[in-house]
Amino acid sequence: MRRVIADVAIWGAAGDRVGIADGRIAWLGTAPAGWEAVPVTRYGGRLLTPALVDCHTHLVYAGDRAREWEMRLEGASYAAIAKAGGGILSTMQAVRAAAEDALLAESLPRLDALLAEGVGTVEIKSGYGLSIADEIKMLRVARRLGAMRPVRVVTSWLAAHAVPPEYRGRADAYIDEVAIPGLAEAHAQGLVDAVDGFCEGIAFSPAQIARVFEAAQALGLPLKLHADQLSDLGGGALAARFGALSADHVEYLSAAGITAMAEAGTVAVLLPGAFYMLRETQAPPVAGLRAAAVPMAVATDANPGSSPLLSPLLAMNMACTLFGLTPQEAMAGVTQHAAQALGVETGRLVPGAPADLAIWEAASPAHLANAMGHRPLHLRIHGGADV
Ligand code: NIG
Ligand code: FE
Repeated sequence: MRRVIADVAIWGAAGDRVGIADGRIAWLGTAPAGWEAVPVTRYGGRLLTPALVDCHTHLVYAGDRAREWEMRLEGASYAAIAKAGGGILSTMQAVRAAAEDALLAESLPRLDALLAEGVGTVEIKSGYGLSIADEIKMLRVARRLGAMRPVRVVTSWLAAHAVPPEYRGRADAYIDEVAIPGLAEAHAQGLVDAVDGFCEGIAFSPAQIARVFEAAQALGLPLKLHADQLSDLGGGALAARFGALSADHVEYLSAAGITAMAEAGTVAVLLPGAFYMLRETQAPPVAGLRAAAVPMAVATDANPGSSPLLSPLLAMNMACTLFGLTPQEAMAGVTQHAAQALGVETGRLVPGAPADLAIWEAASPAHLANAMGHRPLHLRIHGGADV
């Protein structure tokens, strides 16, 4: 199947036409010979970008944590709420109580909200089940979501997200008895595309994360890490040492961490929604990342607690306003760098890439990221087909 998208302003490329063959971009700019009789659709000069890639979400969950937000507004800290059994553990209770179909039904509208903003690939983590069966239930829901809509879903095993109550004070036993054996089981069921962890004082130590990473590497799985979000535990450097695809949050990333990530080719995933909702004050070291040429991705971190955000366009806006990215950097952050953070080949306007495209009622990335709450998506194309 061949088709031509015409009369578009192609982000980052000259010309106004894109040829698609068998679901992939065949050429950009002007048509080569042999494409004269191929059907052409015209788009009135609208902006064309890759479909967006939301490379860090906790989209599958049950319940909500609005009350915790009220408590934070009244002065309680995220860490204090987590230590008192709230936070991730309160969502754990809701996820454990939810039947798989109910979890699916709660999560689907959130996926639809992302798709309505031009998302074509979304990463979805486990991490609220915290038992082998419940972590697997979450990833089954993630896979089912991917089968229900025209979207690429990339799953991450995040059992090392919090220590559940039955293992309180025994984090090492949790790693040995749940996080590592559960990973092998979920992987055997084809449910795991990558492995993530939460390296933080309120979660797991670098040594505990390293053991999960070693198990993941033995299975040949790529790695990611929630790193240096609330304090500097050397998470960025740890991710780099293991050749991780990405280190995410990175507000407290050190200069040594930046250097290690640059050398390892580890992407820095910026999550301004969590920074904003937690009213953090230390922004990630964007100037240092830029100077070291560490690719910066931007994602929603959609989750019920620290970032109840279902808008990648607002994440772009926040990445610019709060962290100092340029709109062009933010655009790369939700497309090619996000795809790099997932190890997938989409997110780029190059011949051979999947024809996952978004066409916008907007003139430029700055127009996309500038307005808040607008719905500028005109059309999304997924694997070459309009959706
Ligand atoms: O990416 N930092 C840890 N994990 C999530 C928060 C999850 C939650 O609060 O439910 C995050 O922000
Ligand atoms: Fe997260």
